[in-house]
Amino acid sequence: LRFYVDSANVDDVSTLLTDHLVHGVTTNPTILERSNRTVHDIPALYARWESEGAEEIFFQTWGSTTDEMLQNAEGIRALGERAVVKVPATRAGFAAASTLVAAGTRVLVTAVYSQGQALAAATLGVRYIAPYLGRLKDAGRDGIAEITAMQALVAGTGTDVLAASLRTPHDIVELAANGVPFFTAAPSVILAALQTDVSDASAAEFDAAVQRGLSDRQE
Ligand code: E4P
Repeated sequence: LRFYVDSANVDDVSTLLTDHLVHGVTTNPTILERSNRTVHDIPALYARWESEGAEEIFFQTWGSTTDEMLQNAEGIRALGERAVVKVPATRAGFAAASTLVAAGTRVLVTAVYSQGQALAAATLGVRYIAPYLGRLKDAGRDGIAEITAMQALVAGTGTDVLAASLRTPHDIVELAANGVPFFTAAPSVILAALQTDVSDASAAEFDAAVQRGLSDRQE
């Protein structure tokens, strides 16, 4: 089981990485845009997150043809051994993924919305597929059931589900209970998974007991 953080907000990502709470960082072009970054910032972001301990760092290739995707993927692959190339689950993307895998590149096929796509990605030998739970639900579909079925399809193939578009800790727990191993979510969702008010209240009580004990000793 692993958590990844789905963000390009360097402050939010830093705190999760340096506290060793996530295994790595996932991004895509819209995530970069949301943090006022562009694909030109990819090398600096990679260097920063590598130095902060990210084990895997995901950037998405871009382009409307397979050739363009392969050309842009080369820049991502060359960043270093922690780089994982994300490729969208389109006709051109599947062709790019196939070539990348054959060349030994670690690939994640993203925006997976059907079991056929999940199966196709696994036949190519990609490392991860990323189905989008929240967006499946937005479309009125049973995202939990569909992603659970994808997990069953790829189990034992060497391709793993890295679930995305997770909007609450409960989304993560439900998928994990159904065998999904890897999760990427916004910093706020990761932090919400760690925190409950009752745990904080218990911790405050423990601390108060320590302080009372210390002040009793001093008297
Ligand atoms: C992953 O690559 C996507 O950015 C992400 O998980 C989408 O989340 P959203 O549907 O909440 O925007």
